[in-house]
Amino acid sequence: MNILTPPMGWNSWNTFGNDISDELIRTTARAMKDRGYLDAGYRYIVIDDCWSLMERDGQGRLVPDPVKFPHGMKALSDYVHDLGFLFGMYSCAGVRTCAGYPSSFDHEFIDAKTFAEWGVDYLKYDFCNFPSSAEGKNRYATMSMALKASGRDILFAACNWGTDKPWQWMKSLGAHMYRSTGDIQDNFKSFSSIALSQLDNFCMSGQECFNDIDMLTVGMYGKGNVALGRACTDEEYQTQFALWCMLGAPLMLGGDVRAMNGFCEKLVLNRNLLRINQDSECRPPYVAYRGRVFYNGPDAENHWEEYPDGGLTLFRHLSGNEFAIGYFNLSPRPAEIPFTFADAGLPYGSGVALALTDAITGEELGVRRDYCNFRLEPHCSRVLLARMVQAP
Ligand code: GLA
Repeated sequence: MNILTPPMGWNSWNTFGNDISDELIRTTARAMKDRGYLDAGYRYIVIDDCWSLMERDGQGRLVPDPVKFPHGMKALSDYVHDLGFLFGMYSCAGVRTCAGYPSSFDHEFIDAKTFAEWGVDYLKYDFCNFPSSAEGKNRYATMSMALKASGRDILFAACNWGTDKPWQWMKSLGAHMYRSTGDIQDNFKSFSSIALSQLDNFCMSGQECFNDIDMLTVGMYGKGNVALGRACTDEEYQTQFALWCMLGAPLMLGGDVRAMNGFCEKLVLNRNLLRINQDSECRPPYVAYRGRVFYNGPDAENHWEEYPDGGLTLFRHLSGNEFAIGYFNLSPRPAEIPFTFADAGLPYGSGVALALTDAITGEELGVRRDYCNFRLEPHCSRVLLARMVQAP
């Protein structure tokens, strides 16, 4: 199978945790179809942890909880497939999942076969309760082979939270994406530090195997399973989604898509942001600026303050000679976020200028030839699309 652009879909964990059911998955799939998510590219519907009974059956097979999933998994996957989606499930490399359910250690081949029989197209494979005497890489290799032997194309979403630098080896084991970070929480500090921690590693992410910086929390507003700290604002969700798009990370929605507000729905369906995320060249962004931002202090004449890692500007080459520029004010005060074209290889003397468009609003911003800075409110972002033109 070929996974040529970052996988997109929805996962139950961030909002629903243990509170999952056949009904939830069906109504989510229905809503995603009706509201245009499938057309926009969100294809995988993934049930995370907590779907099974606490013990295997007499043949050693995992058993869906009959109260949560009264029709079994095959009927549910048929329903999801009939709507046009792909169907994802969850297991774990350890002896129990993170929530304490039976897990695939030493059951890799029988579990992969079971998933294939249920029509599973995507397996998220977690790392909790892993025996300290066992070897992590080998167990991811084992599940990868088990999936290949299962007789079905199943996307392997390895999730070891960055243990042993998976960006250096997970692709070589056949995985299609790998979680590189710990669990996201629905707050600004969590998602911004997750994104920053992987800036240097996205050069190893691309076609067939993508760096996964976790499911999005866009639209959760502090409700659900990963709420911790101050809930995000609309602007912060825009920053989160813009970071994931600029980095080319998988886009697995974690909010309740049946009840997403207008702002967040428009954001995650924004065609330009999705086009940047899904660009066929799959290039990582170049860090055009990362560093200090300055503010006037309480006594502006004699006093100023700085925030050391508050400004971030990402520049990304897209296919068709197009470029994307992402500006991020990660600091808690309004600040100017710079982009000097020479930093991306376009000095003033080149005679080449950039025609700029706001990727989110579609507003034309004119032609510039040397720099384009933006003053941004705290935690805000801006994303531009750029094309080369002759300097005026
Ligand atoms: C781990 C993973 C999460 C989620 C939970 C489920 O913490 O990193 O994404 O799958 O387990 O228990």
